[in-house]
Amino acid sequence: MESSAEVHKLKTMLKGVILAGGLGTRLHPLTKVTSKHLLPVGNEPMVFHSVKQLTTAGITDILIVTNPQYVGDFVSALGSGKDFGCEFTYRVQEEAKGIAHALALAEGFAAGGKIVVLLGDNIFEAPIQQAVSDFHAQQTGARVMLKQVDDPERYGVATLDGNRIVAIEEKPIDPKSNYAVVGVYFYDASVFEIIRTVEPSARGEYEITAVNNAYIRRAELEYSLVQGKWVDAGTFDSLTEAHHILSNSSNWH
Ligand code: G1P
Repeated sequence: MESSAEVHKLKTMLKGVILAGGLGTRLHPLTKVTSKHLLPVGNEPMVFHSVKQLTTAGITDILIVTNPQYVGDFVSALGSGKDFGCEFTYRVQEEAKGIAHALALAEGFAAGGKIVVLLGDNIFEAPIQQAVSDFHAQQTGARVMLKQVDDPERYGVATLDGNRIVAIEEKPIDPKSNYAVVGVYFYDASVFEIIRTVEPSARGEYEITAVNNAYIRRAELEYSLVQGKWVDAGTFDSLTEAHHILSNSSNWH
């Protein structure tokens, strides 16, 4: 059993990446002047939730990836990290070419270490801390988080065989399960090599699902289940739901 000091030391070796790009077109006109990730959810800008998820799990070295239009707004809202007890680094994604493309910008920041990647529009009722600890216990490979949903066709969908993920399909018309892959990913350093092998999908994006399927082929993809409610706050309805989740959840954040 590791002492809490050892756990703390391990956690400080993990770095966090928050992907907050995209133009938020489904939320026009709210996103005409700023990023979706800076819209209010509960009493705070949405991205504060991702930051607090990471700092609560002991991760204090955090990269924010966003687009050129909004990077100034992120710096105004988040600053150096002093107010959150962490340190931010910012990188600009020039073209909206998908999540894996945005993640490629984190290679220098990761500096050969393991990373926890959060999509800045994913809101959780409960902390993801346990999954972070599960990832620590893993020597190599990657980990995703799954949540059973009523509308799996909107997400990456995992096919399970016992306790293994055997495939992930991105937004399938005919989903093989109701386990959505939520926007939290844990990767070892080989993720950047894998990203370089990914081809753009039919929608012209470098998909994170392609990266996760590469880990499945290596038999190196684990999963944790999401505790409590989860929402991808990219639409008006889900933004309202996100607001309710954070307004009603216990005050861990
Ligand atoms: C992305 C991923 C998808 C995942 C979802 C979670 O979809 O491609 O696999 O289930 O985030 O929020 P997007 O929101 O970019 O359409």
